[in-house]
Parts: sequence; structure tokens; C-alpha cells
Amino acid sequence: MTTYEHILVSCPAEGVVSIQLNRPKALNALNFAMMGEVVSALEYYDKQEGTRCFLLHGDEKAFAAGADIKEMANATAIEMMQNGHITRWEDIHNIKKPIIAAVSGFALGGGCELMMLCDMVIASENARFGQPEIKIGVIPGAGGTQRLTKAIGKARSMELVLTGKMLSAQDAYEAGLITRVVPAAEWYTAALELAKEVASMPPIAVRAAKEAILKSFDLTIDAGLEFERRNFYLLFATEDMREGMKAFIEKRKPMWTGR
Ligand code: CAA
Repeated sequence: MTTYEHILVSCPAEGVVSIQLNRPKALNALNFAMMGEVVSALEYYDKQEGTRCFLLHGDEKAFAAGADIKEMANATAIEMMQNGHITRWEDIHNIKKPIIAAVSGFALGGGCELMMLCDMVIASENARFGQPEIKIGVIPGAGGTQRLTKAIGKARSMELVLTGKMLSAQDAYEAGLITRVVPAAEWYTAALELAKEVASMPPIAVRAAKEAILKSFDLTIDAGLEFERRNFYLLFATEDMREGMKAFIEKRKPMWTGR
């Protein structure tokens, strides 16, 4: 595994690549260098055939408390536009393998936006979510006004973005922002179990399913259904489809080849 300055990359289970945000003294505030490393690790391991699922997490205190305010405090509008920091979040949208966020503590600002780019979120009962940028004179810049609104609706999103209030894990779950809330001791292990389960599925079908679900945010229902059907037909060209259906009929466990 490559070594990085601000993240820790490991392989906690077969097919699972874990990326830990690792600036604990700054509550994992996402500085330019760290976001660069997160994107470069995701892009590198996304291309490796052995990667079946990513796990993205921080530590107990924080997933990430936002973009690094200290780094941005003196930046000009032109510098922010030209340094490419904020567009790093969008690069994650192009990752093909599923990404599971494991959240304990704060997921705020750019941290909440990073979490919303993940495909599933397992959160500790102590997790707190929000877009507090208004309190420092700006607004969310890496997708918060768009993805949060699509996830929890206009009225709740307005309240969070216009006041900077935080959502509890239970409220975030009830609003549809996250997949599951678990006891504080289980936020990492529960997310790892889910990653292992996804990693054990046929990888081309997993990729096709992720793509089709993400398309639902951009396409009309007719275009989305057409996209889904095409991916469905495409899977009939895979060895894993033959194996999956044959194994079902023979009442045995399928052996996936990823072909
Ligand atoms: N950037 C830089 N440093 C940060 C940070 C951030 N986003 N969040 C926390 N830190 C640092 C603090 O400055 C502090 O460092 P020092 O010990 O050197 O002073 C350390 O992390 C611990 O933080 P606190 O002492 O503040 O911890 P707390 O438990 O009292 O409070 C908190 C926790 C409520 C999360 C508080 O730290 C906070 O409000 N953080 C900022 C949250 C925020 O505004 N995020 C949005 C950033 S802008 C953005 O993300 C734009 C975008 O859309 C991309």
C-alpha cells in the first residue's frame, strides 16, 4: 500500500480498501493536500481489479469538520477558483467502486459534503451532521446546497444551511441522509461488515447498480429506466450472470470471477 501524509490506507478485509482521514488534531479538517490524497488514493485503487469496495472514515471524534478554515481564511476569490480545491469533491463522483462512509463524531461542511459523495453511510449514535458555513460568512461550496437538498428535502436543508444547526444521527437517519445508526462502539465494525458484504457480490453487477442509481439524480424517469435496462441487458454478457443463475438452480454458493 502506498503511504500518504494525511491519510492512512489499508486493506482490512479481502477486496476492501480503507481510507482513514488522519489529521485528528484539526478534527480531520480537509486541507488542499489531504483532499488531493483522498482523490488520488480513490482513483488509484478504483482501477485495481482487487478493489471491490471502499471504506472512508475518520476517527471517533470526527469524520471531518469541514474544509480547512485556517488554510482558506486569507484566500482570494480568484485563488479559490484557480487552485482546484473545491472541485476535488466532484472528482469523487467519478469513482466506479462503491464507497461506504463510516462516521463517528462530526461530519460538517466539506466533511458532510464528502460523506454525501459516498454511496452508503454508517454512523455512530454520537455522529453530528451539518453545513455550518453560514457561520463563517460563506455557503457550502462542494455540493451541500444541492446534495443535502436532494437527500433531505428543501425545508430541512434550508434550516441547516441558513442557521448552521447540526442534525443528530437519529434525525439524519429519519431524514434519509444516512443508511443506518449503530451504537458508538460499532461505527467502524458495522461499516466494515457492510463493505465485506458488498465486496462479496459480483463486481460488474455492483458497478452497474451503482451507476444506475446515481443516474437517477441526473435523468428523467424515462431516460433513467432506459439506462437501467441497458445495464441489465449488459449483465447477460457476463460470466457472473451465468454463474449466479446456475448456482441458484443448483442450490449452491456462486463463485464470482468478475468477468
Ligand atoms: N478547519 C480548520 N481547523 C479546524 C476545523 C476546520 N474546519 N474544525 C476544527 N478545527 C480545529 C480547531 O481550530 C481546533 O484547533 P486548535 O486546537 O489548533 O485550536 C481543533 O480543530 C479542535 O477544534 P475545537 O477546539 O473547535 O473543537 P470543539 O469540540 O470545541 O468544536 C466543532 C468542534 C464544533 C466541529 C468546531 O471545531 C467547529 O465549528 N469547526 C468548524 C466547522 C465548520 O465551520 N466547517 C465548515 C468549514 S468551511 C467548508 O467546509 C466549505 C465547503 O463547503 C467545502
